[in-house]
Amino acid sequence: MNILIIGGAGYIGSHVAREFLDQGHRVTVFDNLSSGLRGNLFPEARFIHGDILDYAGLLRAASGKPDSIVGSAGGKAGAPFDALVHLAASKAAGESMVRPEKYSVNNISGTMNILNAAAETGIRNIVFSSSAAVYGEPQYLPIDEKHPTNPENYYGFTKLEIERFLGWYDKLKGIHFAALRYFNAAGYDVKGRLAGLEQNPANLIPIIMEAAIGIRKEVQVFGDDYDTPDGTCIRDYVHVSDLSTGHAAALDYISRTGKSLSLNLGSETGSSVLEVLETARKVSGKPIPAKTVGRRPGDPAKLTASSGLAHELLGWTAKHSDMETLIKTSWDVYNKQ
Ligand SMILES: NC(=O)c1ccc[n+]([C@@H]2O[C@H](COP(=O)([O-])OP(=O)(O)OC[C@H]3O[C@@H](n4cnc5c(N)ncnc54)[C@H](O)[C@@H]3O)[C@@H](O)[C@H]2O)c1
Repeated sequence: MNILIIGGAGYIGSHVAREFLDQGHRVTVFDNLSSGLRGNLFPEARFIHGDILDYAGLLRAASGKPDSIVGSAGGKAGAPFDALVHLAASKAAGESMVRPEKYSVNNISGTMNILNAAAETGIRNIVFSSSAAVYGEPQYLPIDEKHPTNPENYYGFTKLEIERFLGWYDKLKGIHFAALRYFNAAGYDVKGRLAGLEQNPANLIPIIMEAAIGIRKEVQVFGDDYDTPDGTCIRDYVHVSDLSTGHAAALDYISRTGKSLSLNLGSETGSSVLEVLETARKVSGKPIPAKTVGRRPGDPAKLTASSGLAHELLGWTAKHSDMETLIKTSWDVYNKQ
C-alpha cells in the first residue's frame, strides 16, 4: 500500500513508519518537526515538511502533489494514497488543562483538516492514535472497549471527539477508521534501529531513564499509600514495537473488511512504579535515586487494559511489552546519549 504517515517523525510515528517499511509498504512521512526529529526519518521513505494546520499544503500532500518532497522512496509523486496514519497531536494531559486552546487547534482543527483532505483526495482508510485517556476514572479493570468513556482531561476529550468525527466521516464519506487507544507507550525499536529520544516525555520510564543518565536528579514517586501491593500506582505499559504491529494489523483489517473500529492496545499486565524502578536499576546497574512525594490529584491506583478485542479481530498480542524488554530497549538508547 501507499501510506501517508502524519506525525511519522515522532516517537511512536517513527516506529510505525519502520514497521510499514519492513512490511514492504511505500511510506511518506508528513510532519512539522515540532516534536519530531529529522533523525527519525528513513532514507527509503519520502518526507514532507508540513503542518496539518496549513490546509492547502496538507491537501497537496494528501493528493500526492506536495511542493517539496525529500527522499526517494518507491512511491511516485502523484500516486494516490491508500491510507493515512494520523499521529500528529499535542499530547500532554496536564498542559491540556491549562492551555486547552492549543489542544483545540492542533488536535481538533488539525484533525478536521486531515479528515477533509482525506475526503477530498479519496483516501479511504485512516488509522488514528487515540488514547486510554478517553476512559477517565476506571469503573472496573481491566478496561475494555465497553467501559464508559468519560475523559478527565481536555487532551482525552479531544481524542474522544475525534473518534466521534471519524464515525461521522465513515457514515457520510465512506472513510474506514481504526482508532487505537494506546495505554502507556514505552520502549524503543527491539532491533535497535531508532535512537531519537521522545521529546518532553511525561511518562515514568523516560523520566527514570533521565535520572539513570544523570540529567534528572531523582525520580518523584507520587504517593506510596495506594491500595496496591507495594502502595504505588500500577499502569499498563505497551512497547512501541507492539504498537507498530498493531497499526499494521489494524490497517489490514479495515482495508480488507471495510469495517471501522475503536480498540485498546495495551499489554494487559500492570507494573507498579516501584517495580519499574527496580527493573531499571537492575538493567542499568545505576542506583537511580527516587523520592516519595504526595499523590497527584486524579491518579487512579490501578489502570490496566483488556486487549481482547485486538486479539480477537486482529490476532494481535503484545510480544515485547514485558518490563525487562521495555527497560532494556529504553536503556540501550538513553545510555548512548
Ligand atoms: N506516548 C504515549 O504514551 C501516547 C499514549 C496514547 C496516545 N498517544 C498519541 O500518539 C500520538 C504520537 O505520540 P508520540 O508519543 O509519538 O508523540 P510525538 O510528539 O513524539 O509525536 C507527534 C508527532 O506529530 C508531529 N506534529 C505535531 N503537531 C503537528 C502539526 N500541527 N503538523 C504536523 N505535524 C505535527 C510532531 O512533530 C511529532 O513528530 C499522539 O497523537 C499522541 O496523542 C501517545
